[in-house]
Amino acid sequence: MNVRTQVTNRPQAIAATRIADNVLDLVGQTPMVRLPRYLDRADVNLIAKVEALNPGGSAKDRPARHMIESALKDGRLKAGDTVVESSSGNMGIGLAQVCGVHGLKFICVVDPNAQSQNVAIIRALGGVIELVNHAPDGDFLAARLDRVAALLQEDSDRFWPNQYANLDNPESHELGTIAEIDTTLGGRIDVLFVACSSTGTARGCRDYLRRMGRKTKVVAVDAMGSTLFNGTAGPRKISGMGAGRIPALAKGQEFDDLVRVSDITCVAGCRRAVAREGLLVGGSGGGVLEAVRGMQDELAGQTVAAIIHDSGSRYLGTVFDPEWVERELGVCEADVIAMAGLAPENS
Ligand SMILES: Cc1ncc(COP(=O)(O)O)c(C=O)c1O
Repeated sequence: MNVRTQVTNRPQAIAATRIADNVLDLVGQTPMVRLPRYLDRADVNLIAKVEALNPGGSAKDRPARHMIESALKDGRLKAGDTVVESSSGNMGIGLAQVCGVHGLKFICVVDPNAQSQNVAIIRALGGVIELVNHAPDGDFLAARLDRVAALLQEDSDRFWPNQYANLDNPESHELGTIAEIDTTLGGRIDVLFVACSSTGTARGCRDYLRRMGRKTKVVAVDAMGSTLFNGTAGPRKISGMGAGRIPALAKGQEFDDLVRVSDITCVAGCRRAVAREGLLVGGSGGGVLEAVRGMQDELAGQTVAAIIHDSGSRYLGTVFDPEWVERELGVCEADVIAMAGLAPENS
């Protein structure tokens, strides 16, 4: 028997879509979305900047593009050269994308802790993966940086963007991320929450807001176990947020407030964003949203912007895998749901 579904097509006004010149032209102008159900109180106007909707899937598309295009502009880099960077995540993906558009080669130095999904994306985007297998004293960051230095030595046509010291990193957020948020909200942002690693995002946002004379309070969100902001080094299992050693960009940086979140708090935030808002946020995004929730009473009546750096689709084998959470963080799913403030049937 044929079953027919009756569909009524109503004519709709369709707005013309802008045709980008190339994929990099799609970096930025990311959407913002209200999150009316995330918090327990309705009188906080919480708005998220969805950076996952950059073409490479994260906020790192912005500094990747800006660092490379600045270097191309001033001659530090030319077509056919090779970009070398140590990254196993969003920056590696962003750089692979930029290099593809500009006819550059890309070598990405990773270690065995890199998530295989990210490595696969970098490779698929044409990046060459250089795996560092061995680290004296287990310090893989030092081992990766040593390999970067060795690769740069081998050939003079190689360029290291060095996101942890490059001022084009914060500048990309000053020119883009926060300018977009501020313009959209007509300059009326009471509090901005930003996750930190290189501190490029938070620095760029704060510098723009101060330059514009805004009174916006900038809250840095960092991981427990991160050494940023006089933190004590400790184990961290969720990639993206925090730093094992203080990056040059972060030295001396101060923000209006600091919230430290644990790995499990990030997981709880990710579960809550899905259950309450249908939004699949990455680990640092979960941490940022929980930092807002922790301060919600003092945020009553205010407009709060939260930058969500990437999507939960990058964390399916970690944050969104209850077995991984129980094994690595020692918390069962029922307890995660309780921490997220969700009734079991909502989860
Ligand atoms: C998922 C995620 N969140 C937050 C951050 C922190 O951004 P920034 O390096 O600009 O401080 C990063 C940086 O790698 C990231 O990948």
